[in-house]
Amino acid sequence: MIKTLTNILTYNISHVPSGSYACYSNSDLGQILQSRTSTKSFGVSRRESHDSSSFYGRKLFKGSMSGKASEIVSPAPLNVLDRVFAHSSEDMSELPDNSVALMVTSPPYNVGKDYDLDLTLEEYLDLLERVLKETQRVLMPGGRIAFNVANIGRKPYIPLNSFVAVMASRLGLLMRGEIIWVKGRGVSGSCAWGSWMSAGNPTLRDLHEYVLVFSKDRFDRPCKGRSTIDRDEFMRATTSVWEIPTESAKRVGHPAPFPVTLAERLIHLYTFEGDVVLDPFMGSGSTAVAAKKLGRHFVGYEINEDYINIIHQRLERTTPEIPEQNKQSVA
Ligand SMILES: C[S@@+](CC[C@H](N)C(=O)[O-])C[C@H]1O[C@@H](n2cnc3c(N)ncnc32)[C@H](O)[C@@H]1O
Repeated sequence: MIKTLTNILTYNISHVPSGSYACYSNSDLGQILQSRTSTKSFGVSRRESHDSSSFYGRKLFKGSMSGKASEIVSPAPLNVLDRVFAHSSEDMSELPDNSVALMVTSPPYNVGKDYDLDLTLEEYLDLLERVLKETQRVLMPGGRIAFNVANIGRKPYIPLNSFVAVMASRLGLLMRGEIIWVKGRGVSGSCAWGSWMSAGNPTLRDLHEYVLVFSKDRFDRPCKGRSTIDRDEFMRATTSVWEIPTESAKRVGHPAPFPVTLAERLIHLYTFEGDVVLDPFMGSGSTAVAAKKLGRHFVGYEINEDYINIIHQRLERTTPEIPEQNKQSVA
């Protein structure tokens, strides 16, 4: 029986990278396998424990895994934890390889904000690629990236979400999904209709941004820990449309902060307590604030001294808060 299971599991692990079988006992595994559904040409009604190996065995997914499902994780040294580094995240040499569990960020958009340079699209994408490569180095296997990005312009519309998705995939990161962050109905505040009530040249006003999610080398986290997400938040967080109101730039003192609740949801969903969360473009430090609140470590980079002062002030006002009832046992 065990030999058969091992064969089946070896097959499943190499073809269906989700789930960590190493954490189950053999009897758990027997039950899991017995209760599995599998992909049929008409689909199945119940998806829990679904055996999707035939689906992922299709040519469509061929070559999409790097094949190196490493388990090597290096703890980040204590002297980098909960630190803000005041230089470009194109170089994160303070951080060892394989040490970060999650990166949450929103890059500069190169659109004329206080902190923006005036880069060509190619130069701008090169900057993002250098930072993504460094992030990939420091992420642990199974570590995730949650990359908040908005598309920009109208004449023409520049689909940064597509450029980043293609770039990350080319680097060998595994795309997990695309969250549509709805910032509020009608919040665009833009009157750039193009042509008012005329087919002459109407333009769309985006109410949303994206959070693109990737993992490094494998989909699961090889080492487990304590999750802190409750049932309702888990149900909300695992859908692809998130409605979260924007943060006020004036209140935070930064031109483009994202809401702490956005970072909190990502951290709850993708990390265990005590994990290290990286933000290579910290801005006002919303990711760090969320990490501190939820009992995770943060580390990040920001090149603007004024924003670094804001980060420290916000962190001083933040105390860790993990409601006991939200704690779940090991995943
Ligand atoms: C969109 S903002 C981030 C906002 C942040 N998510 C928040 O909630 O406040 C991007 C930030 O990246 C910083 N930045 C730009 N280039 C950078 C670089 N090469 N390395 C580190 N930070 C950089 C800018 O100064 C800016 O504060």
